[in-house]
Order: sequence, then structure tokens, then C-alpha cells
Amino acid sequence: MTTKVLWQIGLLLLLASEILTLDCGLIVQFQEDEIGKTRTLLETMGEAWNPQECPENPDFGFPMVKIRTCSKEDARMAIGLLLESIQIVFQHNFTQAQWNVTAIELFQRALDQQCVMWKRCSTAEIGNRETFKDFRVKLAMKKYFRKLHTFLKDRQHSLCAWRKVRDEVSIIYPIVLNELMKRLEN
Ligand SMILES: *[C@@H]1O[C@H](CO)[C@@H](O)[C@H](O)[C@H]1NC(C)=O
Ligand SMILES: *[C@@H]1O[C@H](CO)[C@@H](O)[C@H](O)[C@H]1NC(C)=O
Repeated sequence: MTTKVLWQIGLLLLLASEILTLDCGLIVQFQEDEIGKTRTLLETMGEAWNPQECPENPDFGFPMVKIRTCSKEDARMAIGLLLESIQIVFQHNFTQAQWNVTAIELFQRALDQQCVMWKRCSTAEIGNRETFKDFRVKLAMKKYFRKLHTFLKDRQHSLCAWRKVRDEVSIIYPIVLNELMKRLEN
């Protein structure tokens, strides 16, 4: 085994133990710390690019109003759904983008750990009830992520399509998470 592989395994074990022992009362702080690291991985995936190379300007329109007005319980559900949905987007085909596979994998793993954390702490707090009180929040988010999927598919997962989707995610990921976590605090 190469040192790199060993290093990655070590890192995973470290992360896994961190996740298992984390106090749910600290979950917001954990997530705040994760945001910067996760965004850096998004940036490391592929190099910076010139807007002229990919002129298309899609408007995916994240449903911010729904997020800003949702209940505390739904905010928790929405965080889980957000993380899970981003994870699924980044399972699309990267062949054409030829991005950094290590960064993609680390990104997926980071999101996976965040999902696991929120799931574990949600069920600890609200029991096994895993439904939205206001279903429209869920529907609006699903609709938004469907647009990202369709956009990638329709453009055969081209490099430009990936750049747009990555930029979109790197904008909404911190904004939406921070907004939802604010809702949890009051
Ligand atoms: C990914 O896309 C490439 C071409 O863009 C294709 O050859 C390959 O079969 C696709 N892989 C999967 C798993 O769909
Ligand atoms: C790929 O990503 C990894 C993890 O972020 C980074 O350590 C490595 O330097 C990157 N490789 C290239 C060629 O940019």
C-alpha cells in the first residue's frame, strides 16, 4: 500500500471517530467548521475558469423564501435533505469534466459524514419521525435539485455544465445551511 492510501485510511478513521463521539449539542458548530473545508474541496475539484468559456447562464432559483419561513423542525429536515441532494448531484458522470478524483471523493465523504451526523442527531431529538411538517418545503427543494439533474443530463455532463452546477452548489451550500441553522437557534 502506498503512503497516500494509508494516509487516506487514517484520515477516514479519524473522521469516523470524530463523528461517533460528537455531542449533538455541538452539531451547529461542527457544521459551521465543515462549511469552509467542504467548499475548499469543491474548489479543488476543478480549476478556475473564464466566464467566456461557458457563457450559458442558467437560473436554478433556489427556493430561499420557503427556507426563510420554515419551522424549526422542518429546518432540521431541510438540512438533511440539502446535504443528501447535493451528494446525489455529485454522483453524476465526471468523465468529460476530468476533475480531480481525490477531491471529488473527499467532498462526497465530507457530505456523507455531515448527513450521518444530522440524521443521528435528528432522530435523537425528534424520534424516528422523518417527515416534513410543511410538505411544500420538501417539494420546492426537490424541484430545485431536479433542475440541476436535468441540466447536467441535457448537456451530457459536459465540463461547462459541471462548472455551472459546481458554482451554483458552492453558492447555495453555505447560504442555505447558515440560514437553516439560524432557524434552529431560535
Ligand atoms: C460517462 O460518460 C462517458 C462519456 O461522456 C461515457 O463513455 C461513460 O459510459 C459514462 N459512464 C457512466 C457510468 O455512465
Ligand atoms: C487533488 O485534490 C487533492 C485533495 O484536495 C489535493 O491534495 C491534490 O493536490 C489535488 N491534485 C491536483 C493535481 O490538483
